Amino acid sequence: MFQVGDVTFKNSAFLAPMSGVTDVPFRRLAHEMGAGMVVSEMLASEELAKANAETLRKAEGAKFLKPFVVQLAGRDEKWMAQGAKIAEDMGADIIDINMGCPARKVISGLSGSALMRDPDHALRLIDATVTATNKPVTLKMRLGWDFDRLNAPEIGLRAEQAGVQMLTIHGRTRNQFYKGQADWEKISDTAKKVTIPIVANGDLSRVEDSNMMLRLANAQAVMIGRSAYGMPWFVGEVGQYLKDGKQPEAKSLQWKLEVVLRHLELMLDHYGNFMGMRIFRKHIGWYLEHSIINKDELKQWRIAIFSQMESVKMAEQITNFYKSQMVKQCNYPIDKVGV
Ligand SMILES: Cc1cc2nc3c(=O)[nH]c(=O)nc-3n(C[C@H](O)[C@H](O)[C@H](O)COP(=O)(O)O)c2cc1C
Repeated sequence: MFQVGDVTFKNSAFLAPMSGVTDVPFRRLAHEMGAGMVVSEMLASEELAKANAETLRKAEGAKFLKPFVVQLAGRDEKWMAQGAKIAEDMGADIIDINMGCPARKVISGLSGSALMRDPDHALRLIDATVTATNKPVTLKMRLGWDFDRLNAPEIGLRAEQAGVQMLTIHGRTRNQFYKGQADWEKISDTAKKVTIPIVANGDLSRVEDSNMMLRLANAQAVMIGRSAYGMPWFVGEVGQYLKDGKQPEAKSLQWKLEVVLRHLELMLDHYGNFMGMRIFRKHIGWYLEHSIINKDELKQWRIAIFSQMESVKMAEQITNFYKSQMVKQCNYPIDKVGV
């Protein structure tokens, strides 16, 4: 297993940073279920430096997560440097810089993937970050801004020379947003230019494709985003598969129910009851989609679960949902199902 600074990863499948999804509870679950590394949601470095309460909450988690990786976004050297120092003080083992976010809100602030249009400015931010912290700095980017400017290899090499210790590349351009198919082979153009580890990202949805992704991208690790929606165990499964080549066992509904209830508990712990239950709805939606046998019933179960005002009742409805699916699956009377 490769190392970044003094950080050794458990395996070579990582959970991608996803704003609004990979909060502390989700990362704790993915981490507990075997992900080789998990990364915080993108934190605006200026907001972190100004101690914005919501940003500070996103930067929590050091006591649960090892390694603890914090991703920073920004366009200003001063804030990136200060953000990196604060992240280090909050326990970060690695500071990751975001140069991949395509959102208009982010690029109109000239951060995220907009930096790929201005490599000189990107390098100033990298320099400022690397200088500010003793921790390893890594960089996440796309193939380039558009197909005429596939400059990840150039930026990757300059980043390595500036002290960046690992590169994650999402195999799309900024202008593709999330359209089309991620091009794993194009990632290898950067891998050929640099000596630091490469993490390949984009559209990995089946464990058995992970070796091919590594090979085509010439990468040391894979990073998984959307395929972990409602399946926080998926990253760990890929990590294990890359170690031993064994297909993961199918997960029972009872097993999934326990994961969902654990997720709810972590949400309440992190956000408190009111916010925890509200934010959890998005995840429940994904869990239901993965477990429901008759999709026509999705709406009624959503209503039954989302309308609960107390977490105990919500947990009860979630349990009822899974019991009902177990019954359907076994075609067995409910009083005989041992749940
Ligand atoms: C909802 C959402 C939020 C995201 N937020 C971030 C982010 O905060 N930082 C980042 O570097 N990338 C972010 N991304 C991009 C992902 O990390 C990843 O590069 C992208 O989803 C492609 O991987 P996938 O096909 O496995 O999902 C986000 C993606 C999604 C779908």
